[in-house]
Amino acid sequence: MLSSTLIRPGTRPRTLAAAALLGLLAVFLLPAGHADASAPLRQHAAARGKFIGTALATGQLSNETQYRNIAATEFNQVTAENAMKWDATEPSQGQFNFSGADAIVNFATQNNQQVHGHTLVWHNQTPGWVQGLGATAMRSAMQNHISQVVGRYADNPAVVSWDVVNEVFEENGNLRTSFWYNTLGQSYIADAFRYARAADPNARLCINDYNVEGINAKSTAMYNLVASLRQQNVPVDCVGFQSHLAIQYGFPTSLQQNLERFAALGVQVRITEVDIRMQTPRTSSKDATQATYYRDVVQACMNVNACAGVTIWGFTDRYSWVPDTFPGEGAALIYDENYQQKPSYTAVHDALDDGGDPTDTTPPTAPGTPAASNVTANSATLTWSASTDSGGSGLAGYTVYREQGSTDPQLGQSSTNSITLTGLSPSTQYQVYVRARDGAGNLSTPSSTVTFTTTEGDGGPEGPCTAAGTVQTQWGNGYVIQPVTVTNTGSSAINGWTVTFTLPAGHSITGSWNAAFTTSGQTVTAKNMNYNGNLGPNAGTSFGFQVSRPNGNTQTVSGYTCASP
Ligand code: XIL
Repeated sequence: MLSSTLIRPGTRPRTLAAAALLGLLAVFLLPAGHADASAPLRQHAAARGKFIGTALATGQLSNETQYRNIAATEFNQVTAENAMKWDATEPSQGQFNFSGADAIVNFATQNNQQVHGHTLVWHNQTPGWVQGLGATAMRSAMQNHISQVVGRYADNPAVVSWDVVNEVFEENGNLRTSFWYNTLGQSYIADAFRYARAADPNARLCINDYNVEGINAKSTAMYNLVASLRQQNVPVDCVGFQSHLAIQYGFPTSLQQNLERFAALGVQVRITEVDIRMQTPRTSSKDATQATYYRDVVQACMNVNACAGVTIWGFTDRYSWVPDTFPGEGAALIYDENYQQKPSYTAVHDALDDGGDPTDTTPPTAPGTPAASNVTANSATLTWSASTDSGGSGLAGYTVYREQGSTDPQLGQSSTNSITLTGLSPSTQYQVYVRARDGAGNLSTPSSTVTFTTTEGDGGPEGPCTAAGTVQTQWGNGYVIQPVTVTNTGSSAINGWTVTFTLPAGHSITGSWNAAFTTSGQTVTAKNMNYNGNLGPNAGTSFGFQVSRPNGNTQTVSGYTCASP
């Protein structure tokens, strides 16, 4: 019984001795009832049919035993942090150097790991000689580079996928005006994919970018590009979401929904470079927040069938690009500088292990019809009778949707059979329903719907707080609102605030700070961070955000509603 749950399909130990040893370990180390809780990350991931990966640096790999041991034990996929980039593999034209790349591939082969090739065509870490070429020469240099680099590993079973193009978008969704784009125009993207397919017909070919985790202007541009490339039979097989997140900027709560819309295009999706930084120094409260971010990233991937896995951009705070790149920030990984597991390690572990039983395909029962109680201008409390789950993985929570036609937006998630929806529009009819989720990600059939109408907003303060925004700066197709001041106008302290506002048509949020943003259609909800939610009477705080808008449009956001919490 212990060994059958400990040793999962796909992680069959190579020898009977190994099996016996694992069995022994199980007897001594594992809490009863949760047989494989102490198994490494890769074992849980494999049991769920996913990879858990890490970026590897060649220096540490050859110099540090502890680094090597953790990399080998915990992960079943690796990405070269730098060793496969152009400046490493072809520093001068036609002079290829695969020493670092080979070291990573050999390590992976020895440890039964997959390699994701990163990256072929990027505007960074590409030598000057490439950037100075004219169009014809640049296109053939690109073709040669791709065919040499991809071709070298085409027959190597460890190397299964490539980031063909990396970071081709600006934040507003325009194509980045890199030297690639400036010299070759947009066609360099399709060409790069075609050259890669020619070099290895079996490799999975990805487009990769950052700040595309949530649904926003940039991810929508990527979505449109992938859709149009695939329509033209350009071989794009996969989309990578880097996920370099920071706890002070809020979690991209539309991550799962975003992965799902890409999956619906027929591509594989994956989290390619997750790290979750914080303003240093570390505190236990920041660690705890970071752990929930890691959990939610991994959980989103687990919940989406087309998500192949999650790669963490390194694993130890001893070696991370974050402090060098974002001054004052760090501690972004799941082990500390001394290779001790942080709360984020446990969060990743538990999210991979969640539900445990990969054979659970039985969804929970449908929740009861929700009852709407306490409806205000901007919020509503719903309660329903709980679902039950008999599939083994247990009930994980509920998601509330608004019935709206072909795609029903999510209004919120709850781990109990009740939720207070916030950020609703005044005088608006809502028809909503609830679905239950279990630990294996199975969704129940929807409950019946309930219809309620929010009360009239009187234009005055909606809650015990007010919010007012100032346009700090604007330009043709964008603007910054800073500060939005939030003031507690009540006579007692508030513990959390929610500011809502409506974006003019065609406007979208491209950045925000000091509040956690969620967007549903044009309605934006900004909630306090853990450090600015408590306001005594008359006390205030502020946050800010940036918006992109159609060129020539002069509208800006106005009209903020504040409620608590
Ligand atoms: C980073 C590496 O971690 C650093 O060591 C290097 O100096 C710069 O590049 N997006 C990517 C990665 O696609 O290749 C980057 O890696 C991080 C951002």
